[in-house]
Amino acid sequence: MAGPTIRPRRLRTTPALRRMVAETSLEPRQLVLPLFVREGLSEPVPISSMPGVVQHSRSSLLGAVAEAAELGLGGVMLFGVPEHKDATGSGALDPAGILNLAITDVVGEVGDALTVMSDLCLDEFTDHGHCGVLTPDGRVDNDRTLAIYAEMARAQAHAGVDMVGPSGMMDGQVRVIREALDAAEHTDVSILAYSTKYASAFYGPFREAVDSSLQGDRRTYQQDGANAREGVREALLDVEEGADMVMVKPALAYLDVLRQVRDAVRVPVAAYNISGEYSMVEAAAARGWIDREPAILETLTSIRRAGADVVLTYWAAEAARLLRR
Ligand code: PBG
Repeated sequence: MAGPTIRPRRLRTTPALRRMVAETSLEPRQLVLPLFVREGLSEPVPISSMPGVVQHSRSSLLGAVAEAAELGLGGVMLFGVPEHKDATGSGALDPAGILNLAITDVVGEVGDALTVMSDLCLDEFTDHGHCGVLTPDGRVDNDRTLAIYAEMARAQAHAGVDMVGPSGMMDGQVRVIREALDAAEHTDVSILAYSTKYASAFYGPFREAVDSSLQGDRRTYQQDGANAREGVREALLDVEEGADMVMVKPALAYLDVLRQVRDAVRVPVAAYNISGEYSMVEAAAARGWIDREPAILETLTSIRRAGADVVLTYWAAEAARLLRR
């Protein structure tokens, strides 16, 4: 009995052969590490729903970014957690606010060795947990929020950030931020637009990470998970408004959207492997239900394969160490 002539298994015979023909690469430079820094801490505080991730103090943050630079990561994305939150998120604009101080600290620590990025959004700073300011009847006010984002962009640029990451899903946010940066002569500060961002249950652990108690939900501004075309439209709009890079978020439940966005635009595309995606793997691994390290690399490879040039992931440092082995 003659066997098959065509045998795809041949190219899977040895590790060297599999490595040679691998279509997708995963490299530390493609990974961005999100980091949380909380005002008033003297020691880092563990985030219970994200085992292995902490809220940093200003000083422990410096150790984390130095390590990120040493590992050759592409960058870090900074999130600030203020001690006091209010209705308008005023801590976001204060030059002495935690995020603005952390930006200056981090740039001072790593210089040009990493791309230093910052979240440009109000939800970490508002007491109601929304990404913008509210109208008297409790809706998120798009245009009043834009004015605050413009000021926030100027504050972050003044603090020294390389790239701002507007993540609030307000219409027109990229244009307003670009204009504000340019008017303040920060023409070199780039914009990573969270262009295609869905209202997701997988953001759950992030709420603990930034001490946020969200009132209601974000469904009037973040996208409906049923819509892929609209996700592409949002990305195209942000490119038109001046985004230097766009992003799809979450990653795993939206890999199809990621592929469509990658095919539609001509700028680098990032994807955010978010908190809930991280915690699912960690929780299953802690129970011995899945093999943790291969699961991490398989997850990150799937996001790259779907079209992400850059992946934001809480595993960035660990993955870089695994890739060195
Ligand atoms: C908004 C923002 C969120 C995340 C990043 N930026 C929360 C949200 O939109 O609800 C989530 C990141 C994660 O879950 O890992 N500032």
